[in-house]
Amino acid sequence: MSHNTIEINKAMDKFDGRHSVWLFGYGSLIYKADFPYIERRPASIEGWTRRFWQGSHDHRGTPEAPGRVATIVPQPGAVCHGMAYLVTPEEFAHLDHREKNGYLRLAIDIHFDEEHSEEGLVYIATADNAAFLGEATELDIAQHIAAAVGPSGPNAEYLLHLAQALRELGHHDEHVFTIERHLRQLRGG
Ligand code: SIN
Repeated sequence: MSHNTIEINKAMDKFDGRHSVWLFGYGSLIYKADFPYIERRPASIEGWTRRFWQGSHDHRGTPEAPGRVATIVPQPGAVCHGMAYLVTPEEFAHLDHREKNGYLRLAIDIHFDEEHSEEGLVYIATADNAAFLGEATELDIAQHIAAAVGPSGPNAEYLLHLAQALRELGHHDEHVFTIERHLRQLRGG
């Protein structure tokens, strides 16, 4: 699959005709909402875990020197915490452009609390996209992130903002926090 997913996402018609759709964010969408939304609520998805396995050619790196950003991978029993936004379908043109580097829209159950969930969308970068980098140790990921920079700024900023946002939401993510620890050591504090 090409790493530009705009056309594939445009063809996704599952929520056509709806006035609003819930979008679940687990990476930069948690801390950077550069789109209007009707409502925003902490939420989670089940059976997925956050991993810094996706390459970034357009935001936190370049095609020659990609950065490393978050995607989600299936893991039975796991819960991935993030932020859900209720948006109008018009927002998806902007979102598809923002997430064009390998991310596909996927319909998913979004949980708000034990009794309440709704079907919505998440952007996911799977192993078959051309920008996917895959598994590495948290130390290797931190070293990679420390060196990368792209049009949206240093790759380290993405990781550190995400770690801070998760902390503010009250959620521990061992993968993210271990990378953060290594990154801070590499940066000297
Ligand atoms: C997300 O945040 O949900 C998708 C990945 C990203 O934009 O960082």
